[in-house]
Parts: sequence; structure tokens; C-alpha cells
Amino acid sequence: MSNQPIGFFDSGVGGTSIWKEVHQLLPFEHTIYLADSKNAPYGEKSKETILSYSIKNTEFLLNKGCKLIVVACNTATTNAIKELRSMFDVPFIGIEPAIKPAALNSKTNAIGILATKGTLSSELFTRTSEKFASHITVVEQVGEGLVELIESGKLNSTETKKLLKKYIGTMLALKTDYIVLGCTHYPYLIPQIKEIVGPEVTIIDSGNAVALQTKNILSQYSMLNSDKTKSRHHFFTNGTIDVLSTILEPLTPEMLIKYEDF
Ligand code: DGL
Repeated sequence: MSNQPIGFFDSGVGGTSIWKEVHQLLPFEHTIYLADSKNAPYGEKSKETILSYSIKNTEFLLNKGCKLIVVACNTATTNAIKELRSMFDVPFIGIEPAIKPAALNSKTNAIGILATKGTLSSELFTRTSEKFASHITVVEQVGEGLVELIESGKLNSTETKKLLKKYIGTMLALKTDYIVLGCTHYPYLIPQIKEIVGPEVTIIDSGNAVALQTKNILSQYSMLNSDKTKSRHHFFTNGTIDVLSTILEPLTPEMLIKYEDF
């Protein structure tokens, strides 16, 4: 069991930001990543649709022998992880917007959350926000259009920068000193966001926390790979190979990227 791969899925290429953190912390783990780009964005879809995609993605990864699944998508985690855990017999690691550290550390008592509509309207997000941030101002901003732009490789386009200015501007007007990236696609826009907010605002995401939790759970279940040779990484996409390859750079010979119509 321990030398079986860790599975990851996302609505597209964004979850690779999580894959990178996990791979850095656990370099000997084999991995399989599924980019459901054909169905992106998940953020505008109903809970039922997000759940059915998440079940399909999980089955794909389990058929390839994954020992643990990282749901590398805030939208799928907040809408489907409870059901996935009750349906399948493997450990699941999810990702949620990092409201807690932002709320605890904010000096202006105002934080901004940039996420999808599906995440911000979920029960899980509402509960976490009430638990950790009811005493401060939380500016919830849907990043409408951003996932589509990242999926088409337009990270530095004028359109992307214009949308970011609009979304971040709403937050800055309310004096937010922390911006939480609540979508795994958004870490790829950190340089562009930094240009807008300058050094006074801290940008946080949950990638590192997910990697640590993955390590803890694998160790708890005695599932860490004991074989310390080179690990293999298979990436499957039902979208374009080009964007996934570019976002994964630098590529190594152990990384195999494949198109598959799932
Ligand atoms: N990466 C997904 C997330 O973390 C993107 C959601 C989408 O496809 O809209 O929420």
C-alpha cells in the first residue's frame, strides 16, 4: 500500500499549486493528478453537479490505485468532501480558505477572501467564517472569470490584471490587510496581486497547510512510501496539454502529462 500513489484532483490546472507543495514536502511519494479542465469552472455550478464531478474524479484516481486523495480544489472540498468521505474507503485531504490565520493576525480587523461563488456560498465556508471571523470585517469577493483566464494560460493578460484590480480594489477600500486566496488557481496570480496591493498587505493560501496535513495523515496510517528512490508523477487532463505543461514547469523526466477524455 505505501508505494501506491497519492491522487489529486481539481477542476483544472489550479490544483497543481497544491501538488507542488505536497511534492516539495514529500518528494518520494508517487502521484497522479487529474485536471478536469473540460468541466471548469466548477465555481458557478450547483452543489449536485460539483458532487457528481468529484465522485467521477475520485473513481478515476481509485481505479489507478491511489492510497489517499487530495481534493486540490476549494470548491469541490466545500461542496463535496463530506459525501466523498462517507462513500469511499480512503483518506481524503481537503482545502478551505485560510480564514483563521488571517482573522487572528489582522491588525485592521478587515480581511478579504477571493474565492469562487461555489465556495463562498457553501455551508462549510459560512460555518468556518462564523467560527473564526465573526468579530471582524470579512470582504467576500467572487473571482468571476479568473479561473477561465488561468485555464487558457492568460496569466499576464490585460484582462486578468483589470479583473484583479477591480476585485482587490473592493477589498482595499475597506482597509483589508490580509487577502486569502480561496481557490487553488489563484496562487498563480500572486505576482500580479502583489503589484496591486504592495508590501503592506499579506497574501495567504492554504497550500502549505494541505501538504503538512497530507504528511500527518500518511504517517498516522503508516502509508508513507518507504522506498526512497525517484518518484513518478502522472498528470491527466481532459483539456489542453500545453497549459498544464507550462504551469508545471520546470518539467522533469519523471513527470508524464497525458490527454484523456474522462
Ligand atoms: N481550483 C478551484 C478551487 O479551488 C477552481 C474552481 C473552479 O473551477 O471554479 O476552487
